[in-house]
Amino acid sequence: MLTVLFLSQKGGVGKTLIITSLATALAMRGYRTWLIDLDPNATASKVLGANNPSNVNGSLTYLMGVARTVKVSTAFIEDGNISSIRIIPPGTSPVANPYGALPSASVLSSRLSSLIRGIGSYRARPNFILIDTPALSPALSPGLTTALISNTEVITLVATDEPGGMGWLGNMLEYASAIGPGRESIIILNRLSSIKGGLDIGVKNVIKILRNSAIEAAWRLGSIPYLIKDPGLSQFRRAIDELTALLERLNAERVWARP
Ligand SMILES: Nc1ncnc2c1ncn2[C@@H]1O[C@H](COP(=O)(O)OP(=O)(O)OP(=O)(O)O)[C@@H](O)[C@H]1O
Ligand SMILES: [Mg+2]
Repeated sequence: MLTVLFLSQKGGVGKTLIITSLATALAMRGYRTWLIDLDPNATASKVLGANNPSNVNGSLTYLMGVARTVKVSTAFIEDGNISSIRIIPPGTSPVANPYGALPSASVLSSRLSSLIRGIGSYRARPNFILIDTPALSPALSPGLTTALISNTEVITLVATDEPGGMGWLGNMLEYASAIGPGRESIIILNRLSSIKGGLDIGVKNVIKILRNSAIEAAWRLGSIPYLIKDPGLSQFRRAIDELTALLERLNAERVWARP
């Protein structure tokens, strides 16, 4: 079982778009895939078709201490075969800004760890747990950022190539390594105007996705771009396949094998 966290400092860089396509790609390859949706807007849950995105017993309300249990949804993807993804939607929070109502890092960390342990002890042990978050920074939400990083094995940083974006990546990697070693990092550069150009911060796992109006159009319709077999989306599909293969390898290196 591999836990994979998606983070970005800026909103709207494509975390949810990429994580829903990734979850789909993993499920279609036969992996038992779970998604913990920590965005109060529940975008990933809705796009994937979770059946109870507005239930109170969710991942975020559990972290807040409002809910004592979580409800698990199942989304089905039909692509020749039927594959399924288990989703824990955020839950409906009684407060306007749930991120402002979170407890300390240590309380968050112990709740997150019991949530992940609970999922891990599920009768059919998952292969992958993906975690979607809203835009988050150590400066604004230090407790949550720390709790998330300390409970996950792979951190996936999503950024664009706008000026100033790269400094954030370097700082985040340093922040993560200060929390503890033994973590893999993946950087996804999304909405790029060109595929050329390197990234000089010593990270080997870099995946690039071009800015593409076909992606945007599919997303606006509530579709998962990975499932659309349009030649205009082939670069996107290849990037998701590359990300999937990378996570398969990281999971295999940790000895846990395919179902
Ligand atoms: N490669 C791309 N090309 C064109 N549009 C894109 C691309 N990636 C993402 N988008 C668009 O960017 C918007 C934001 O995407 P998404 O909701 O996945 O971002 P996010 O990082 O999850 O945002 P938030 O932090 O608000 O949750 C969507 O309208 C999506 O269609
Ligand atoms: Mg999002």
